[in-house]
Order: sequence, then C-alpha cells, then structure tokens
Amino acid sequence: MDSTAAGDAVVDPAGLGRIVVIIPTYDEAENIESIVGRVRASVPAASVLVVDDSSPDGTGDIADRIAAADDHVHVLHRTAKNGLGAAYIAGFGWAAERGYDVMVEMDADGSHRPEELPRLLAALADADLVIGARWVRGGKVENWPRSREVLSRGANTYAKLMLGVPLSDATGGFRAFRAATLAKIDLEGVESRGYCFQIDLALRAVRQGLRVVEVPITFADREYGESKMSRDVIAEAALRVTQWGVAARVARLRGRR
Ligand code: GDD
Ligand code: MN
Repeated sequence: MDSTAAGDAVVDPAGLGRIVVIIPTYDEAENIESIVGRVRASVPAASVLVVDDSSPDGTGDIADRIAAADDHVHVLHRTAKNGLGAAYIAGFGWAAERGYDVMVEMDADGSHRPEELPRLLAALADADLVIGARWVRGGKVENWPRSREVLSRGANTYAKLMLGVPLSDATGGFRAFRAATLAKIDLEGVESRGYCFQIDLALRAVRQGLRVVEVPITFADREYGESKMSRDVIAEAALRVTQWGVAARVARLRGRR
C-alpha cells in the first residue's frame, strides 16, 4: 500500500503500514475532543475514524468539526444506536475499502489510554491480533466499581470455561488487528451486536489459528458521561457464549462418534 496516500505520514517504524484507530461513540460529547487529540498526539501517522450512532448529545457534530480541521480524522454517521459490534463492523468495512493495514479498536471515554497505543502496535509486529488486557500480570483497573470488576472477571471466566479461549481478557475492547486478520474472519457471519462482539472476534481469531497476544494495560473508569453497559448487553453475551459453548461440545461429540 502507498503509505503516502490519504494524507498519512510516511514514517512507519514498525513496518505495519497504514493504521486507523476506530472509536465508536454514543453520547461522548465531553470525551470526543480529548480522546481524538490524544490519539493524534500518541500515534501521529495513524488516522482516526469516529463511528457515531446519531448521538442525541451532538457527539457526531463535534466529530465533524474536528474532522473538518484535520485530514487524518474521519466520521462515519449511522442512523440508530445499533450496538458496539455493529458499529465496529461498519468501521472495519470503511477501513478495508480504503486499504488500511491495521485497524485499532478503542473506547472514546478515556478508559483506553492512547498513550499505550504504541506498545500495542509494537506487539502487533509478531501477532495477528493484540488485545490490551486488564486481567493479566501488569494489567490494572482504576476506579472501577466493584460490581463492574466482578462482571468483567466473571464474563472472562465463563468464556474460558465454555469456549476454552486461552485468553485472560477476551472481553477487552482495546485491540489492534491486522487487516489480514479481519479478512480471515467471516465478519458478515458475526451476529453479536453488543459487547460480546469482543469475545466473538477473539474466539474467531483463535479458531483460525491466528496469533492472539495479550498486552497488559491500565484501564481507568471514565470521568465523564455514562457507561452503555446494560442488562440487554449482558443477556446477549451470556446467551451467545452459552450457545457457542454448547455448539462446540456437540460438534466434538459428533466428531468422536
Ligand atoms: N456507535 C456506538 N454504538 N458506540 C457505542 C455503542 C453503540 O451502540 N455502545 C457503546 N458505544 C461506545 C461508547 O460510546 C464508548 O466509546 C465505547 O463504545 C465503550 O462503551 P462504554 O459504555 O464506555 O463501555 P464500558 O466502559 O461499560 O465497557 C468496557 O468494558 C467492556 C467489557 O470488558 C469497554 O472497554 C468495552 O469495550 C468492553 O467490552
Ligand atoms: Mn467505558
């Protein structure tokens, strides 16, 4: 790929090619400017794509203003709040069409520190997917309510038991994919709409035999706005992980016969 295309910088020390950091947003008006600025400062060669689901608080308009002043920043407007997974799939499609080589997932609320991005990207030199992980040695969580920690650890333990994923933080949403990794995953077959999308993609990458590497991160709870975690998001994750686990067991039993 021509690394001088689309206003991207020529500098590419890790040899990864063109990078886009995809930030899904729903009501992140207090956070969007700061997070985009921090990404641009931490990885100046990377582009940013904000995927906004018509946030009622005007996040999409603020993103448009930032994009108008910076040719590395782009905005994808969607018509309705369709979930984190759906937003990322749209963003990945946008990036694939434009020939990006690396797609990064990052929350808008500051929980994922853009300053840790260079470390994630460096790890991608020897991996197909890098996951910023909280529940590994060196990983940390700051100011998270105890209830959220229990939920996250519980979800990860359940995913490990049900699916055998060899990961400590399969639900983590701070990640870097090679474009080739996403091309090997059947994204059209992904039905996950909410946060279980993260487990879904991690599982698909592992099952493809791809190299999935966890890098410790410090996850700090958001200062502004509210989490979009909901009962529906939890229910979808519990249901789907159970279905995938049962399906894998049935398939194994069939194979044994
Ligand atoms: N476009 C769009 N549409 N964005 C969304 C939607 C949606 O339906 N739902 C959430 N987002 C955006 C938020 O605006 C934010 O930028 C990001 O997705 C994460 O949402 P949060 O609501 O801040 O997530 P969290 O802090 O509760 O959850 C964290 O932990 C989860 C479980 O480990 C995140 O790191 C998740 O990525 C992670 O899966
Ligand atoms: Mn958050």
